[in-house]
Amino acid sequence: MLWEKLSELQERVRVITVNILVRPFTIVNRSVSVLRTDGIAGYVRFIRKKIYTKWLRYPSSLLIEVSSKCNLNCSICQAVKASKYRKNSLLLFDDYKKIIDDVSFFCFQINLSFCGEPLLNKDIERMIVYAANKKIDVVISTNGELLSPECAQAILKTPLSRIIISLDAVNETTYKKIRGSGNYDAIVNNIGNLINKRKKLHLKSPVVELQMVCTKANEGQIDEFVLLADQMGADVASIKTLYIDPHGGESYKKNLIENFLPKEGISRYDVDDYKNIKLKEGGPCPSLNMAVITCDGDVVMCCFDIYGKFNFGNAIRESFKEIWKDGKYKSFRENVMKNRKLDLCKTCIYSDCPSIKVELNTNHGRQVGKSEIR
Ligand SMILES: C[S@@+](CC[C@H](N)C(=O)[O-])C[C@H]1O[C@@H](n2cnc3c(N)ncnc32)[C@H](O)[C@@H]1O
Ligand code: SF4
Ligand code: SF4
Repeated sequence: MLWEKLSELQERVRVITVNILVRPFTIVNRSVSVLRTDGIAGYVRFIRKKIYTKWLRYPSSLLIEVSSKCNLNCSICQAVKASKYRKNSLLLFDDYKKIIDDVSFFCFQINLSFCGEPLLNKDIERMIVYAANKKIDVVISTNGELLSPECAQAILKTPLSRIIISLDAVNETTYKKIRGSGNYDAIVNNIGNLINKRKKLHLKSPVVELQMVCTKANEGQIDEFVLLADQMGADVASIKTLYIDPHGGESYKKNLIENFLPKEGISRYDVDDYKNIKLKEGGPCPSLNMAVITCDGDVVMCCFDIYGKFNFGNAIRESFKEIWKDGKYKSFRENVMKNRKLDLCKTCIYSDCPSIKVELNTNHGRQVGKSEIR
């Protein structure tokens, strides 16, 4: 008992010491780097956004669904079914502009993907440009199928910060098991072409991240996947854990537990003898400073609420700031989400969920870092 109390005290002293000794240097370093790249105006913007997100608790990042429809139908994905629950399958450019105008005052980063395939929205390039001109970092997650040489050329003309491509496999057989349809060789060619063109143009962005969801089909190929990403000239290889979506019903769940949940690879779940899944550890809700907006403009609870059951307002018709600060939403974040009170919270993810991110150009060592949400 006494020993436990002493260890707890020791840990508190360590955290306080680290905060006092290390954090000021981190803040100074970050400030110098922002001043160097963005000048005084950029620095003032950075401080303003920090005040809004850290102290006033506005969301630092957003997922904006520009398309809820998809050109693939991956075996592990339920998000693709969400388009049935949307009135429109694409976000219109004018509605998108209204949302960006509302959030640019505080938001650092947006990802233009939620449930569908973002490259299906024909306005994707001007959407990237519009948000980047408002000094927001723009990321897209794509299956890479539509990333033709023409599309890559157009994307490279935009200031996209990062493109995460769900490659998932080192060969076609594994790819088909996870992704169903989709043409593995064509996607590998698309990625190679994007990277080569970026190199020829001497561009540093977008950062190209090749991603794999760890499943039974590819758990033995993690090292090969990292090597492949490195050989292709990607900047980052990332491995994330499989999510078993409760929206999927019993047969989806059974299929994922029996045929996809990895045995040895990284996983967010433990499975008991009765094939029930349990999140490996608890931890806070990872979505408290993130907002998710569907292609209908609905502001929904988090990226696990794919059908928009918990809807707090419409960012096309109303002010986003007012929706975010509304008492009902605020209290939902502070009481329900923070304390992970919903059934959905029992299977989603926790803040320190295992994932692997390897920075290929700068560091060939393996890093275990924070997971992307989902
Ligand atoms: C819903 S997709 C939307 C973007 C795009 N269509 C794609 O596939 O990259 C977003 C991410 O969810 C991942 N994903 C889909 N089903 C998943 C699951 N059951 N567990 C973990 N990640 C999953 C995909 O690999 C992708 O990285
Ligand atoms: S993971 Fe992406 S590509 Fe696959 S079905 Fe889901 S939304 Fe479509
Ligand atoms: S499902 Fe619950 S715990 Fe998970 S991200 Fe959403 S609100 Fe947070």
